[in-house]
Amino acid sequence: MNVLLIGSGGREHALAWKIAASPALTKLYCAPGNPGIATVAECVALDPANHEEIVAFCQSKAIDFVVVGPEAPLVAGIADDLRTAGIAVFGPSRAAARLEGSKGFTKDLCARFNIPTGAYKRFDNAAAAKSYVHEQGVPIVVKADGLAAGKGVVVAFQLQEALDAVDECFDGAFGGAGAEVVVEEFLDGEEASFFCLCDGKTALPFGTAQDHKRVGDGDTGVNTGGMGAYSPAPVMTQDIVDRTMRELIEPTIRGMAEIGSPFSGVLFAGLMITKDGPKLIEYNTRFGDPETQVLMLRLKDDVLLLLKAAADGVLDQMSVRWHNDPALTVVMAARGYPASPEKGSVIRGVGEAATDAVEIFHAGTAEKNGELIANGGRVLNVTATGRTVQEAQDAAYAAIARIDWPEGFYRHDIGWRAIAREKGTAL
Ligand code: AMP
Ligand code: GLY
Repeated sequence: MNVLLIGSGGREHALAWKIAASPALTKLYCAPGNPGIATVAECVALDPANHEEIVAFCQSKAIDFVVVGPEAPLVAGIADDLRTAGIAVFGPSRAAARLEGSKGFTKDLCARFNIPTGAYKRFDNAAAAKSYVHEQGVPIVVKADGLAAGKGVVVAFQLQEALDAVDECFDGAFGGAGAEVVVEEFLDGEEASFFCLCDGKTALPFGTAQDHKRVGDGDTGVNTGGMGAYSPAPVMTQDIVDRTMRELIEPTIRGMAEIGSPFSGVLFAGLMITKDGPKLIEYNTRFGDPETQVLMLRLKDDVLLLLKAAADGVLDQMSVRWHNDPALTVVMAARGYPASPEKGSVIRGVGEAATDAVEIFHAGTAEKNGELIANGGRVLNVTATGRTVQEAQDAAYAAIARIDWPEGFYRHDIGWRAIAREKGTAL
């Protein structure tokens, strides 16, 4: 198979690394890719927003299969444009990507198909939203309806914070994404990420993970795209996985088919495991970043065949096997992330830092004058396996110590919750 992977982050490096190991692969291209991806694929300078250019490239290189990493091209309908041109693609249609592209759409789907999630209301003006906030009191959650690049969600414990968040959305802080606002119930519990490969009819569980959203040690500071992750998520016991499939995922897949927007691709459920069981925080319609980095290290089976089976509608014939050992990834970010990461600093020692148990995925790097430089907020994902989460964590931090990058920073406690469980000191 000739394959084109779309994207340029750590998620795509992890996917490229695993796709490159598939015996079914003939040639892998990545658009636009990064220097890490370039070690396993041919990077091509295409703009994922230019669908015509992507389709023309696929035709000229006889691409058999396209794997789409990020959400923006999916919400913009790249999968539809590729399918119209007769090219197989892993990723949902524009209509099915509304599960990520519109929080209001997803909440309405949950209401209609009885999927457990926080109570909510949708608003198109500030006055009505604020009066609902007053009525409900705090804690409460205010969300811009559309894609806001990981921002656009405020979990408010003070009334004023919630009211300010409403104003911020309607004042255009998130552009068109904030033209509508969802105000929803605060869910209390432990968060987990749950993934399913889907082909429109069948959903195949594809691993669990836990992310660390806050920028600072001890889960302090502002929200980020994710500062580290590990898999599996201990809170996702078999019982909780079974309930999640039965109560959330399967009704979603049935519901999407029923409304004429069958979902094909990866459904990434952000869950809150509450005292009443799993509830949906949000859906994403693409792989998690950095969750994919740990999933790819644990996956025993051929990822390319699994993704192709999802695109071909034959997931009912597939199964997924995982290595028992947990995996953990630590994000190294550029100083100033997430608000204003500094670009251009030189990173040394990456090639020597990896070991048998460690893979270093590039998230936001570039090459300049033969040196590796920081070229984004999240820059490297130091990813390790071990017999325990503690062992994986030790291996990841030992590798980080070998990387020479004074302008970078990272959290020192990735995996703390799972390690506390291993030690029997969990709260
Ligand atoms: P999102 O961008 O939707 O992933 O939200 C960012 C973070 O806000 C989530 O990872 C949760 O930690 C938190 N969050 C979102 N919605 C809720 C909710 N209804 N209750 C509690 N926390 C939430
Ligand atoms: N790590 C969370 C996300 O990919 O949205």
